[in-house]
Amino acid sequence: MTARYGIIGYPLGHTMSPVLHNWGFGQFGLDARYEAWPLEPEGLSAFIERVRTDDIRGVSVTIPHKRTVMEFLDRITDRAKAVGAVNTLYWDGGELCGENTDVIGLVAPLRKLARPASALVLGAGGAARAAVAGLLELGIGDVAVANRTASKADSLAQDFNVRAIPWENRMDHAPGLICNTTPLGMAGAMEDRTPWDADRFPAGCIAYDIVYNPLETRFLREAREAGCATVSGLEMFLHQGLAQFALWTRLNMDEECARVLLLDALAGKRS
Ligand code: ATR
Repeated sequence: MTARYGIIGYPLGHTMSPVLHNWGFGQFGLDARYEAWPLEPEGLSAFIERVRTDDIRGVSVTIPHKRTVMEFLDRITDRAKAVGAVNTLYWDGGELCGENTDVIGLVAPLRKLARPASALVLGAGGAARAAVAGLLELGIGDVAVANRTASKADSLAQDFNVRAIPWENRMDHAPGLICNTTPLGMAGAMEDRTPWDADRFPAGCIAYDIVYNPLETRFLREAREAGCATVSGLEMFLHQGLAQFALWTRLNMDEECARVLLLDALAGKRS
């Protein structure tokens, strides 16, 4: 019987996850299918019952279910507990488990670069929580958060025992890594915007944007022009997906081929 996988979210906008996972199943000759399952919040409990009874092998979880799904699971990894959110359901020894591969995905591209001594996360939403958890996991000693709404930065900083700095003063700091988790620069109404002034990039810093559409945001373009190393949100997306696939199948997709697949998918979507 074809093994079933899918993604739940609501509203479930365009997602590249089916392209990635279905390609991966094909590469390994697995009889499996990954589908998009739009799911309203009210349907979550019944959906998890279906996961248990209908032999659904793995689920990607996105907004608005990342926190609420936790109460329905048998086990949650320490990483997902630290973030307070789950983006992946998988089976382990008969237990339905929750992991957060957004953290794994955020960290993976940074492992290829020299580890910065300090980092500043811009934003204080769910993605910022994953970013802070990942940067701490990477061993960065000095992590700070700045957010337009200060109270949210304060509460995130308190949860993770890191520093909060005022949004207005964010560019007075010279972190070794700046990670944008706000929607500034995203395709659409925000595309022209950036959370950082072009002439304020610290020398030698890494600019990381979790936005992947466009592939090079204004923030990344200006950082590159200032001589900084850059990491696009596509790397985080790619690696969170590779980690999901590995949890589900114990197989590792070819990273470079998967990257090309996603770049093609993104180019097709934007042309
Ligand atoms: P996600 O789950 O992707 O992190 P989110 O929880 O909606 O999404 O968080 C979005 C983050 O981007 C928030 O920190 C938000 O700041 P506020 O807490 O002040 O709302 C930030 N953000 C959104 N629009 C912004 C803007 N125009 N300028 C600066 N920050 C913005």
